[in-house]
Amino acid sequence: MKIIAIKNLMKTYQTGGAKNEVLKNVCLEAEKGEFVAIMGRSGCGKSTLLNIMGGMDKADGGSYLFHGERVSDFNRRQLAHFRNKNVGFVFQAFHLLPEFNVMDNISLPLGYAGEKAAQRKQRAKQLLEMVGLAGRERDKVFQLSGGERQRVAIARAISNRPEVILADEPTGSLDEENGAKIMQLLKKLNGQGATIVMVTHDKKVAGYADRVIYMENGNIK
Ligand SMILES: Nc1ncnc2c1ncn2[C@@H]1O[C@H](COP(=O)(O)OP(=O)(O)OP(=O)(O)O)[C@@H](O)[C@H]1O
Ligand SMILES: [Mg+2]
Repeated sequence: MKIIAIKNLMKTYQTGGAKNEVLKNVCLEAEKGEFVAIMGRSGCGKSTLLNIMGGMDKADGGSYLFHGERVSDFNRRQLAHFRNKNVGFVFQAFHLLPEFNVMDNISLPLGYAGEKAAQRKQRAKQLLEMVGLAGRERDKVFQLSGGERQRVAIARAISNRPEVILADEPTGSLDEENGAKIMQLLKKLNGQGATIVMVTHDKKVAGYADRVIYMENGNIK
């Protein structure tokens, strides 16, 4: 069974009097363990699609099955549970808590999942090593550079060992060296079984994926 099966997904935004049909008829499937990259022009709906896949937003039409479960029919509570249990999300705009330190940001999902403080601390340490930020637990997020924030966001996304990692331009604010490190990390997690769907504008970054799909005019090309 496909881990992700999206069929005829539609999403329209109403801004003022104008209707903006962002997703018209999107069909997309991913096998468990697959690494898929999504490319396409700015504004073509990549983040919108990823948000729906992560249970952050709802489509207006079509269906979204995850392991055969109909996520498109979930209510808010079911969606919140789905997000925490199955998905690690790396946001385009990080969504970290700037006044909190790195450790607290990373362990947030672990706290929701009911892990004890000592375990959270240990896991956060391990994650920071993985993203090249060992020893930075106590730093406040607002003091970090864009690239460091990006890496904290990735550490947080993978803290619960999610089955699926959704990454929206995960290397967007990194220099080449740190970008390559993050891609190697994603590739490693993929090798350990994580399914990854990643949005990128960078052909080289897309080259890490097994398959690249292109979005245009609200559809997959
Ligand atoms: N909450 C919202 N309300 C109204 N319109 C929105 C909303 N979110 C996105 N849009 C519109 O939907 C379209 C697609 O946005 P989206 O963020 O999915 O694009 P994208 O492909 O991720 O672009 P980029 O590459 O610049 O990140 C854009 O025209 C955007 O203005
Ligand atoms: Mg986007």
